[in-house]
Amino acid sequence: MLKLNRSFASSFVAEDELVSYMDEHADVLARCQAGEDRYADSLGWLSVDEWASDTILDRTCALAEQIRSMADTFVVIGVGGSNNGSRSVQAALAPEGARLVWAGNTLSAWELNRVLDELEGHDVVIDCIAKNFETLEPGSSFRLLRQYLVERYGREEAARRIVCTGTIGSPLEDLCRAEGYTFVPFATNVGGRYTALTEVHLLPMAVAGVDIRALVAGARTMERLLRTAPAGENSAFAYASARNMLWDRGYRVELLSFFEPRFRWFSKWWEQLFAESEGKDGRGIFPAAAECSEELHSLGQFVQDGTHILFETFLDVLEPGAGDSLVLGGTDVADAFGYLDGKDFWDINKASFTATREAHAGMLPCFTLELDCLDEEHMGMLFYWFAFACYASGELLGVNPFDQPGVEAYKRLMFDALGK
Ligand code: PA5
Repeated sequence: MLKLNRSFASSFVAEDELVSYMDEHADVLARCQAGEDRYADSLGWLSVDEWASDTILDRTCALAEQIRSMADTFVVIGVGGSNNGSRSVQAALAPEGARLVWAGNTLSAWELNRVLDELEGHDVVIDCIAKNFETLEPGSSFRLLRQYLVERYGREEAARRIVCTGTIGSPLEDLCRAEGYTFVPFATNVGGRYTALTEVHLLPMAVAGVDIRALVAGARTMERLLRTAPAGENSAFAYASARNMLWDRGYRVELLSFFEPRFRWFSKWWEQLFAESEGKDGRGIFPAAAECSEELHSLGQFVQDGTHILFETFLDVLEPGAGDSLVLGGTDVADAFGYLDGKDFWDINKASFTATREAHAGMLPCFTLELDCLDEEHMGMLFYWFAFACYASGELLGVNPFDQPGVEAYKRLMFDALGK
């Protein structure tokens, strides 16, 4: 299960103040729980079953199986909301299915050459994931990789090795029909960054060997909780409320800190979710991430001692899983680290986390999202918990959490420069 520990923030956001804020804004929670008509074209994720029903899961698992029978390497071509969700899970759980290679998220020739090198000697299937099929990074990578497959396998066999996940009726679907590629429908009423629990990400996860049924079961559990719990007992609403109380008090940056590097891609998913959902109309809390303990030696100084614009949310996994234990043996070399003899890195890392939280909590509000363990079920819970919290938080802030008008300005200039 997930639990929001607020005790290290209570000297900045007093519990009684938070409870009255939540009571005062209970109508916002009720609207989010029901889903508002004005966002009907963006709320397909709110009911997990709409895009991750048992039928869809069966279909996704069958396609994943077919892909794995043809390939040991699956190239996921997508950017932002078409990339970060499945990549989070692959990085967090290191499943043992097909290897995933990431493309469509860069315009760097060096990086794309590296991706092509990674394919040599492997059997490859590619998946171009694009809601609009206008985005430059996936569009250009798709052409590059399509041509690579045609050169390597011939046109007919290449077509068997191309999957596209796109909007029904889009030019990407037309292209699939014309060329005989496998077409997977992109959830029509879900914006990219909210698609973690749809085929957009469930297919790459399943190909990678993730138990997507367990992941979706975790999300369903979280949906049941968050869509029924009243304001005082709703942890995602408490988080959304605390963020907005802190915004009102001048806090402008939220740092998502974690002591498991496996959360690196999850933190990118989280950054996109909050940056695009809240950063608009001159408002919003800037989401940043700190991969600890490494960042304690770079960002840590500012966090502890710098301008008071930051609050922090830690991700903490309570129970160790497989691979989470490594005991440091003693040594007869006088290396000055004798105090570590026989200690497990799991405990050393925990000591670093608890000390950091205690030190930071003296200077800034610190929340901790506690996960019992790190597995598929908890990844599903995390996705739903943060998506729901983000919806509620955007509503409290008074912005539309589902559009991203700010990204158009650079695109216009870039497309002009490229002669589109
Ligand atoms: O949240 C969103 O909708 C966006 O950030 C998209 O995820 C991102 O721009 C990628 O879009 P597309 O899948 O259309 O290439």
